[in-house]
Amino acid sequence: MSLIWIIVLMNEIHGYKACLEIERTALLEIKSFFISFSDIGYDDDILPSWVGEDDGMPSDCCDDWEGVMCNATTRRVMQLSLTYTKRSHLRDATLNMSLFHPFEELQSLDLFLNGLAGIYENRAYDSFGSLKQLKKLNLGHNFFNDSILPYLNTLTSLTTLILSNNSIEGSRTKQGLANLRYLQVLDLSWNRNITSGSLTRLGLANLTNLKELDLGSCGITTLQGLAKLKNLEVLDLSSNYIIHGSLEVLANLTNLQVLDLSYNRNLTTLGLANLPNLKALDLGYCGITTIQGI
Ligand SMILES: *[C@@H]1O[C@H](CO)[C@@H](O)[C@H](O)[C@H]1NC(C)=O
Ligand SMILES: *[C@@H]1O[C@H](CO)[C@@H](O)[C@H](O)[C@H]1NC(C)=O
Ligand SMILES: *[C@@H]1O[C@H](CO)[C@@H](O)[C@H](O)[C@H]1NC(C)=O
Ligand SMILES: *[C@@H]1O[C@H](CO)[C@@H](O)[C@H](O)[C@H]1NC(C)=O
Ligand SMILES: *[C@@H]1O[C@H](CO)[C@@H](O)[C@H](O)[C@H]1NC(C)=O
Ligand SMILES: *[C@@H]1O[C@H](CO)[C@@H](O)[C@H](O)[C@H]1NC(C)=O
Ligand SMILES: *[C@@H]1O[C@H](CO)[C@@H](O)[C@H](O)[C@H]1NC(C)=O
Ligand SMILES: *[C@@H]1O[C@H](CO)[C@@H](O)[C@H](O)[C@H]1NC(C)=O
Repeated sequence: MSLIWIIVLMNEIHGYKACLEIERTALLEIKSFFISFSDIGYDDDILPSWVGEDDGMPSDCCDDWEGVMCNATTRRVMQLSLTYTKRSHLRDATLNMSLFHPFEELQSLDLFLNGLAGIYENRAYDSFGSLKQLKKLNLGHNFFNDSILPYLNTLTSLTTLILSNNSIEGSRTKQGLANLRYLQVLDLSWNRNITSGSLTRLGLANLTNLKELDLGSCGITTLQGLAKLKNLEVLDLSSNYIIHGSLEVLANLTNLQVLDLSYNRNLTTLGLANLPNLKALDLGYCGITTIQGI
């Protein structure tokens, strides 16, 4: 113990800064959360480097813990990567957002592939309220449905949002994601029941700063709401049921560089307007027999 105190004292004298105690405690609570929703026997596999001390030396959550990146100056957590942390194929978990409140400087949060089904929050809709600097959020490969949209819609600093392979439909939402005006990258692929009419309900027409939009495997036939996305550079529409007439909307997307229309088997006629910046076009496995005006 006294050795540890001497080290702590020396560190303070030399201006060494460890990670913030409040964030360190919160990280250990996040670890407990993932363990509590995992199957028995996985405790040692879940975030093993997140420990109080390592060989008798105090362990610094900024320097020593996997998936944690801090700001070098403030020593506050900037990035949290928690891909496939919950180890269970059977149990869904409700994400407790209170766990993330202490991370006021968090810019990137990755919760990919964790079997998360909903959000638990004491303070309704204020959930992500403290995450004012969050720019990148990855919730891909979970079980979230439309009930998460009002929470996400409060994260107005987001520039990248990954929601691939969830159960978003856009049928039960008023505003969708319409508030996320700084969003540049949005991945909604593999939400198989989005269907065309829901694109407007999801608020896509308001996301005029979007540069990349992935709507692969969403079950859509037409492209309502996309005409206003003038800054779009990359658009993935693969594996849908897009029909000929609906592509007229693309004429307004003059900045488009990459367009993937592959696996749209109902697309029999291709008539693309002038897309002066187009560099890559994928028409693999479409039903196309006639091409006009490329
Ligand atoms: C780290 O924090 C300082 C002080 O708040 C800030 O000026 C700097 O931009 C931050 N660094 C990064 C990489 O965000
Ligand atoms: C959610 O996390 C907070 C903060 O750690 C905790 O106080 C609260 O009890 C948790 N709620 C549930 C339902 O687990
Ligand atoms: C959406 O997810 C929430 C949280 O898991 C659940 O309570 C609700 O029943 C789901 N809604 C639908 C329509 O499946
Ligand atoms: C989507 O998630 C399901 C269940 O988690 C998984 O079985 C499936 O392979 C995933 N789909 C893709 C395209 O990754
Ligand atoms: C899509 O809707 C069908 C029919 O309601 C349902 O069986 C299926 O589970 C839904 N798929 C997803 C990914 O939500
Ligand atoms: C979305 O766009 C519509 C039509 O331009 C507008 O009436 C509405 O206020 C916008 N919503 C938000 C949240 O910006
Ligand atoms: C799309 O372009 C057409 C032709 O230039 C124009 O009339 C229409 O208003 C545009 N639509 C939107 C939503 O910008
Ligand atoms: C797509 O084509 C199939 C087979 O021709 C047809 O059954 C289906 O109704 C078409 N879907 C749409 C949305 O046009």
